[in-house]
Amino acid sequence: MNETMQTIHSLRTIHGDFSDREISEANLEQIIEAAVRTANASARQSYSIIVLDDRVKMKDLFGYQGSRALIFNVDFTRIMAAARFLGQEFDNDDIIGFITGSIDTVLAAQTAVIAARSLGIDSLITNGLHRNQLDEVYRELYLPETSCFPLITVVLGYPRKEPDFQKGRLSTRHVVHYGTYHAPDDDQLREIVAEYDDKSRHMGFINDWERLGFEHYLDWFYVKWTGKPVKEKIAAGKVLEFQERLQKSGFWWPTGK
Ligand SMILES: Cc1cc2nc3c(=O)[nH]c(=O)nc-3n(C[C@H](O)[C@H](O)[C@H](O)COP(=O)(O)O)c2cc1C
Repeated sequence: MNETMQTIHSLRTIHGDFSDREISEANLEQIIEAAVRTANASARQSYSIIVLDDRVKMKDLFGYQGSRALIFNVDFTRIMAAARFLGQEFDNDDIIGFITGSIDTVLAAQTAVIAARSLGIDSLITNGLHRNQLDEVYRELYLPETSCFPLITVVLGYPRKEPDFQKGRLSTRHVVHYGTYHAPDDDQLREIVAEYDDKSRHMGFINDWERLGFEHYLDWFYVKWTGKPVKEKIAAGKVLEFQERLQKSGFWWPTGK
């Protein structure tokens, strides 16, 4: 493997908190410079990055802390402000804009993760912000109410403890389709279930599902991790909060603007 491949294949998430060791400003700058090199649609770079160094604030906002956190927002406010500045019109805060902006945003976040790892710095990608009250997140970060949505956070630092193992993935044949899409048949589904059950692959979040009364890891996953599917798709709780926030930001509206 070349060095880039080695870096990518050595990626692992640090769950929980990082150590007190700080990353250098020079490394932080390199990570951010790499992130903003990422491809982006229509040269808009429709994201913004908030850099946090306050560990208490990190913990309050998304439940984890490290040397730095990079909060990646889908953000059209900059390009909209530039349009106003020039007396032009621009409006991309609709669902298509949100999807395209989200792609720009997560690609930049993943580039930060890879760049960090190449410098010996570990990371945690977390959507912990979304478990917080979104109103509170907007208030704490002074986020613009419209055309901006906090999508994903990358916490950077050095591990307090090295992970015991690297987590596995499904065999690529289960996720790659050549030429056209092929729905999995029962044989393939049996293999997929078996891969999750193979403890040496470290695929899931727990490894004692039999002790907990489940035949397969995925049985535990569907019952205990994801919970029962919602029969009536009426938005409630977090879903409603997301819908309302996306409507407020202008990215989503149910029946027309
Ligand atoms: C969108 C997203 C959200 C995640 N949120 C969390 C999180 O809140 N807490 C956490 O410990 N890990 C989180 N993770 C990390 C995953 O749990 C981790 O990537 C997965 O278990 C595979 O492990 P690995 O990255 O070490 O290979 C998140 C990852 C992604 C992509």
